[in-house]
Amino acid sequence: MSVRQSDSGRVLAVGSGKGGTGKTTVAAAIGYALATEHHRDIALVDFDPQGSLTRFTGQRAVADPLHAEPVEVHGMTLYRGGATLAGVSSAALGKHLARTMRPGRTVVVDLRPMLDDPGHAVVLAEARAFLLIVPELNPESIPETRKLAAMAEARGIGYRIVGNKEENRRPVKRALGFLQSGFGAQLSQTVIRRGAAVAEAHERLLPVTAYAPDSPPALAIRAIADELVAEGIV
Ligand SMILES: Nc1ncnc2c1ncn2[C@@H]1O[C@H](COP(=O)(O)OP(=O)(O)O)[C@@H](O)[C@H]1O
Ligand SMILES: [Mg+2]
Repeated sequence: MSVRQSDSGRVLAVGSGKGGTGKTTVAAAIGYALATEHHRDIALVDFDPQGSLTRFTGQRAVADPLHAEPVEVHGMTLYRGGATLAGVSSAALGKHLARTMRPGRTVVVDLRPMLDDPGHAVVLAEARAFLLIVPELNPESIPETRKLAAMAEARGIGYRIVGNKEENRRPVKRALGFLQSGFGAQLSQTVIRRGAAVAEAHERLLPVTAYAPDSPPALAIRAIADELVAEGIV
């Protein structure tokens, strides 16, 4: 596959419109799988003022994320986050995203929980963006999933829904049923199991795909990376 000269790279944004669904976990882990198993040039970009992606990868938040130099983490290039991201304009954040992009690179963006922030606007304005929507599998996650999917559709941005924290409980099965009937092909066949490896990986400041690549959550995230590569999305 050749990269066009005008190609400025790809944006793979991870969102859900809610806190605690697993966005940051998936962003770090899918970035690692793409970098190590698919030899992709990966930038991780922390758009969340809370800086979880920055901390999950063993780094510290920075005072000025829009100008701070990136650092190398686990074979990826991390653009660190920090509290000042909370007040930035769409224009400034758009410039920041542009400086992370390179021909042939995939920029993995860890979005904030809220859907009306500049981060979503900036990512959805990017023609070659693709959105991974990662709801936690419970019925409360469905409305935000619908809203975010509608935002992507309105802007002609491709998206895929990947349910997280799957387990054998009734609300989880119900949520998966809602997603299956509402989204069909946009719902990934792969769901991510709830698993202790995720918390263990976070304690060790490693992506779960690096810490326990054969654990059920990591196997699912690796399968999603394979799926995106096979479809030419990344
Ligand atoms: N598949 C999973 N299995 C178990 N725990 C998970 C899983 N995914 C995420 N978690 C846990 O859920 C919490 C929220 O995850 P995080 O990635 O920070 O979500 P978000 O970025 O959406 O706020 C963390 O404590 C994380 O360890
Ligand atoms: Mg997060």
